[in-house]
Amino acid sequence: MKGVILAGGLGTRLRPLTLVTNKHLLPVFDRPMIYYPIECLLNAGIQEILIVTGGEHAGDFLKLLKNGQDLGVKRLAYAYQEGEGGIADALRLARDFADGEKICVVLGDNIIEGNIRKAAGDFFTQRSGAKILLKTVDDPERFGVVRFEGDGASARVAEIIEKPKSPPSNHAVTGIYFYDASVFDMCDGLEPSARGELEITDVNNYYLKRGDLTYDVLEGWWTDAGTFESLHRAANLVREGGANHLQLPAARTEPVGAKS
Ligand code: G1P
Repeated sequence: MKGVILAGGLGTRLRPLTLVTNKHLLPVFDRPMIYYPIECLLNAGIQEILIVTGGEHAGDFLKLLKNGQDLGVKRLAYAYQEGEGGIADALRLARDFADGEKICVVLGDNIIEGNIRKAAGDFFTQRSGAKILLKTVDDPERFGVVRFEGDGASARVAEIIEKPKSPPSNHAVTGIYFYDASVFDMCDGLEPSARGELEITDVNNYYLKRGDLTYDVLEGWWTDAGTFESLHRAANLVREGGANHLQLPAARTEPVGAKS
C-alpha cells in the first residue's frame, strides 16, 4: 500500500501566517506540520509517499524534505495541484503514483497520537472498497459527520454529511482514508459542491452506497491544525507527549560544529 499526503490549499483560515508559507510547513511544537502525516504513514509501515501540494510555496517542501531519506521515507514523490479544486481534486493527481495499488490518504493538517497500523493491515486484507477512521469530537459541525442507523452492535453508517449545521452524531470523519484503485474514477465523476470543490465526503458516500465502506474508531487523540485554535491545540497535545514521534535526524537538531 502506498501513501498520499494532501498538503495543498491556501490556508486562508490561518492568514496572515500562510501569506508567506504553506500551511503544512508551519511549526507544530518542535517540527513542521508535514512531518506528522509522514510519521503517521511510516508508523503504519507505508514507505512510498506522494505529497500533493500547490500554490506559491510548493518549492519549500522540496527544500525541507528533499528526497525524504532523512525521515526514513523510501520513496518520496511530489505532485503539483493547479488551483483550489478541493481534496478529491488533489487526490486525482495520485493516479499514476498509485499505479493500481491501494492507498492510504492523509490530510496534511491531521495529527494523531497513536498509529494506524492495525487499520492499514485490516484494509490490506479488505477485498475492495474504502475504509474511514472516525473520532468523537465536541465540535462535529466543523467536519464530515456520520449519521448512524440502528443502535448498539447493529448500528451502521447511513450517510456522511459535510459540516452539518445540526450534526446527527458527534462522530467526525478524520482526514485519514483508505481507498482501492477505483477511487480515481470516482473522483473524475464528481460534481463540484456549493463551495466549488470536489468533496472527499462525496467519494466516501459513493463507497457507502456501493456497500463497500468500512470504518474504525481511532484510538488516542486526533486533531486537525487548520485554524488558530486547532493549531494551538495540536502544539499543546504534541508537547504534552503521547505523539508517536520518529526521532529527528541529528543533522537537523544540531548545527554542524555546534559545541555540546
Ligand atoms: C476536511 C473534510 C472533512 C474532514 C476534515 C478532517 O475538512 O472535508 O470531511 O472531517 O477534513 O480534518 P476541511 O478541514 O478541509 O474543511
